[in-house]
Amino acid sequence: MTTSRLLLCLLPLLIGLLAPLASQAQATSAPAPLPSADQYSAKGADTCLGCHDDESKTYSASALFKTKHAQRGDKRSPFGAGGLQCESCHGPGALHARTKKAEHINTYKTDSSVPLAQRNQVCLSCHQGSTRNAWHAGAHERAELACSDCHKVHQQHGDPVLSKASQTQTCLSCHKNQRADFHKPSAHPVLQGKMACSDCHNAHGSSAPAMLVKATLNKTCHSCHADKRGPLLWEHAPVVENCASCHTPHGSVRAAMLTKTPPLLCQQCHSPANHPSLARTASSLPGGNAGGAIFLVAGSCSNCHTQVHGSNHPSGAKLLR
Ligand code: HEC
Ligand code: HEC
Ligand code: HEC
Ligand code: HEC
Ligand code: HEC
Ligand code: HEC
Ligand code: HEC
Ligand code: HEC
Ligand code: HEC
Ligand code: HEC
Repeated sequence: MTTSRLLLCLLPLLIGLLAPLASQAQATSAPAPLPSADQYSAKGADTCLGCHDDESKTYSASALFKTKHAQRGDKRSPFGAGGLQCESCHGPGALHARTKKAEHINTYKTDSSVPLAQRNQVCLSCHQGSTRNAWHAGAHERAELACSDCHKVHQQHGDPVLSKASQTQTCLSCHKNQRADFHKPSAHPVLQGKMACSDCHNAHGSSAPAMLVKATLNKTCHSCHADKRGPLLWEHAPVVENCASCHTPHGSVRAAMLTKTPPLLCQQCHSPANHPSLARTASSLPGGNAGGAIFLVAGSCSNCHTQVHGSNHPSGAKLLR
């Protein structure tokens, strides 16, 4: 091994794999001897490919060479000049190359002998960037997800979770309730590939509730539905407060992804005291039985109060225009 290679060993692996591994080895009586830093294979990827190329009966790693991780021109990449190549992610592999035993290498399988936090730390040692700063505050870290539960780095045609069209399937493989929601008659066009979960959520965690991409739920909605932001001359209090008081974010059996059907939707908050609130009756509507009944036939307050999101009309105080 050349000196430059050795120097690079120290960088990602001392922070990542090695240090925690060493302490773990002391704390518990680990079943298998774990490789140490001087146990990198002599020829790097060439050693590995001796058994893990297309011809081999074990796993073929060849597709990796079509991905960004194998860019030789990028010195931050595992395959950049002096990089540790396969072993920057899989750890020192000389021992494994001799024994062919799975427990002598860092695998990303769930039965890996390397603890989860350390497997993730290998990736984070190169990828602790802006979008992942909140990883340690997110529900996915708390739920003990591995980076490799979502990311597939050995795929020739790219990592499916990075593309809008295929990301959804990765997310929905765990989130069954959301799968059902997006199949409801009125839903955000996520299954159609027109938008992705990541338009609203940061899968790496965020300081917002439900790991939303923006600080609040409303700000997340406004990023696409800017017309609902206001400020308006006549605001409707719940719209300013929380879109989710009337809409579900994913999908609903009711039109416009509403949480309830009007007039019930409105009557959750508006009492019959001053104005019509008895569902589908109209005796106290302006216009009386005759006028009002016609409008409530479809059961909707928004037949008259068309501007439920607020109004800019000088006389729109009652959200009628
Ligand atoms: C002499 C052949 C040989 C060489 C060289 C070799 N491997 Fe392996 N590797 C194997 C075999 C055989 C298995 C399957 C072991 C098993 O399933 O128990 C394996 C399994 C693996 C696994 C997966 C373990 C699992 O849980 O299925 C990884 C990761 C791996 N090798 C990476 C590497 C890396 C990185 C290198 C280079 C440093 C390398 N291998 C070099 C033969 C080799
Ligand atoms: C030695 C540093 C290094 C390590 C370790 C590393 N990566 Fe990367 N990764 C890179 C570089 C460099 C790029 C290319 C970045 C670019 O082109 O902007 C990259 C790109 C990516 C991308 C984007 C790919 C694309 O096609 O846009 C993903 C996703 C990724 N890495 C995930 C991971 C995961 C998961 C791990 C751990 C299993 C990992 N990386 C380990 C350096 C590393
Ligand atoms: C729950 C699924 C999920 C997990 C777990 C996950 N990611 Fe991601 N990752 C995504 C999605 C979705 C994208 C693309 C959209 C985005 O950037 O938010 C992405 C994008 C990336 C990118 C490329 C774009 C960029 O921001 O540079 C890198 C690198 C990356 N993730 C690294 C990691 C690392 C490291 C871990 C583990 C600490 C990890 N991811 C865990 C889903 C996940
Ligand atoms: C950027 C980090 C990274 C690099 C570089 C890398 N791998 Fe992997 N490898 C992974 C991850 C993550 C998995 C889990 C499956 C996936 O993501 O597709 C994996 C899976 C494997 C497996 C199957 C066993 C398992 O752990 O699931 C083998 C064998 C393997 N890699 C060998 C290699 C070889 C040989 C090289 C070099 C040519 C290499 N890897 C380079 C991250 C990496
Ligand atoms: C390997 C399984 C798995 C995958 C894949 C996965 N998640 Fe999760 N996710 C979980 C678990 C477990 C939790 C925590 C328990 C819960 O809230 O259901 C969670 C929680 C969440 C939460 C709730 C956060 C909170 O603070 O309440 C959101 C949002 C989320 N995931 C979005 C996504 C998105 C978007 C993707 C795809 C990019 C994804 N998940 C992929 C398992 C997964
Ligand atoms: C239009 C934006 C948007 C899209 C797209 C979106 N979500 Fe959400 N999601 C939200 C909002 C907003 C919440 C918070 C709901 C609340 O707190 O009332 C949420 C909550 C969640 C939760 C927490 C549990 C819950 O239902 O409250 C999970 C898990 C989740 N989303 C997963 C997903 C997955 C998986 C996808 C993609 C298939 C996805 N989301 C797409 C906006 C979105
Ligand atoms: C990434 C962009 C984006 C974000 C963020 C977003 N939406 Fe949407 N929304 C859309 C698209 C695209 C449609 C479909 C428009 C169409 O079909 O013409 C839509 C449609 C809707 C509809 C009408 C559905 C119907 O069946 O008529 C409602 C209601 C809605 N969104 C509410 C919300 C709420 C509430 C939020 C915040 C939780 C939100 N949107 C965040 C893009 C977005
Ligand atoms: C007081 C209940 C209520 C609140 C709060 C609310 N909406 Fe609506 N929204 C409705 C109703 C009712 C409809 C159906 C409109 C109709 O029947 O014409 C609707 C329709 C929509 C539509 C589809 C039709 C259109 O006008 O573009 C979008 C998009 C939408 N709302 C986004 C939002 C966003 C974004 C927020 C938060 C800023 C929000 N809504 C808050 C009641 C509400
Ligand atoms: C989450 C509770 C909530 C829901 C649901 C709700 N509203 Fe409101 N609405 C309010 C509040 C709070 C006000 C402000 C009352 C005030 O300023 O005295 C308001 C104001 C109004 C006003 C103006 C009243 C005035 O005196 O200026 C109208 C009209 C109205 N809402 C109609 C509707 C209709 C139609 C629906 C159903 C589509 C609806 N609201 C759903 C809470 C709600
Ligand atoms: C036939 C048309 C019509 C229908 C249907 C209708 N409203 Fe009204 N509403 C009005 C008019 C007109 C006013 C203004 C009355 C005034 O200025 O004195 C009003 C005023 C209001 C106000 C303001 C409070 C007040 O007494 O001034 C609220 C709240 C309200 N409506 C809620 C509702 C709800 C909830 C429904 C559905 C159950 C509904 N409206 C159905 C026409 C209608």
